[in-house]
Amino acid sequence: MKLKTLFLALASALLISPIAFAQAPIVIKFSHVVAKDTPKGKAADRFKELAEKYTKGRVKVEVYPNSTLYKDKEELEALQLGAVQMLAPSLAKFGPLGVREFEVFDLPYIFPSKDVLYRVTEGPIGKSLLKKLEPKGIIGLAFWDNGFKVMSANTPLHSPADMKGLKMRIQSSKVLDAQMRALGANPQVMAFSEVYQALQTGVVDGTENPPSNLYTQKMYEVQKHVTMTKHGYLGYAVIVNKKFWDGLPADIRTELEGAMKESTRYANAIAQQENDKAMAAVRASGKTTVYDLNGKEQVEWRKALAPVQKQMESRIGKDLISSINKESAALLLK
Ligand code: LMR
Repeated sequence: MKLKTLFLALASALLISPIAFAQAPIVIKFSHVVAKDTPKGKAADRFKELAEKYTKGRVKVEVYPNSTLYKDKEELEALQLGAVQMLAPSLAKFGPLGVREFEVFDLPYIFPSKDVLYRVTEGPIGKSLLKKLEPKGIIGLAFWDNGFKVMSANTPLHSPADMKGLKMRIQSSKVLDAQMRALGANPQVMAFSEVYQALQTGVVDGTENPPSNLYTQKMYEVQKHVTMTKHGYLGYAVIVNKKFWDGLPADIRTELEGAMKESTRYANAIAQQENDKAMAAVRASGKTTVYDLNGKEQVEWRKALAPVQKQMESRIGKDLISSINKESAALLLK
């Protein structure tokens, strides 16, 4: 009897376990640092929804927003180690990884419009930038838009001279460092998750971010002044661990690529409206004074930041910078 039970148990284990294994979903941990209610947060959730639907549950995407799993620097290390499979860091955070070319996106006023931006991110320049990640064990799947940045502090920022001596939080980009120095400010690299408290306690005087981050992180509540400088861009590269991605069954990878394509269209479609909505909410809050630069002031900011492109040429690559400038010129001629 005992032998029969043992035999049955063995037989059923042999029969059931392959099925059980086959049914265990592939888990994608997708970590990011912003709120759910932002262009990136919403696009990550959309990717989860589509990926699970298209793979009929064979893939489960776990989204960890707001630095709940990892902060800026840690998340890139975690991806390379395989502790998470997917991230969408801002393009300003790839320098420390050794891919300096991504900092081209941080150059002040490099994109005169979103049309130029999309020509870059959706065209051959974007493709060749993503390729540069592969030797780092990373595959770049897409670019997700966010928006142009505004500058904030506890003192009014009308002209570049108002930035003099201010301690400004920046992301880990040498271009952003050069940008703040060109304005006479003292840049300080800090993880995104620490910015609110640093602003609140006066560890730094100010920062720069698109309105969607300024609003959802409540930074506007601890910054008395916001200026619509729109001096630079912030967007994302959606990236995966290469070993993980290459090891996926081909049909699953195809479904995930489809989900990513659709989420990317969605991310780019909502970015501007999410930022406009956030800015309207910041203005309506009455907690900060929002200043719109006049024409003369805009020229002053551009003039103060103009030297940064030349300064950063050797770091980023002259050809890359001029290829983006050519895209701008081509659109202007259209
Ligand atoms: C920042 O650190 O300021 C941003 O990159 C955060 C983000 O991911 O939008």
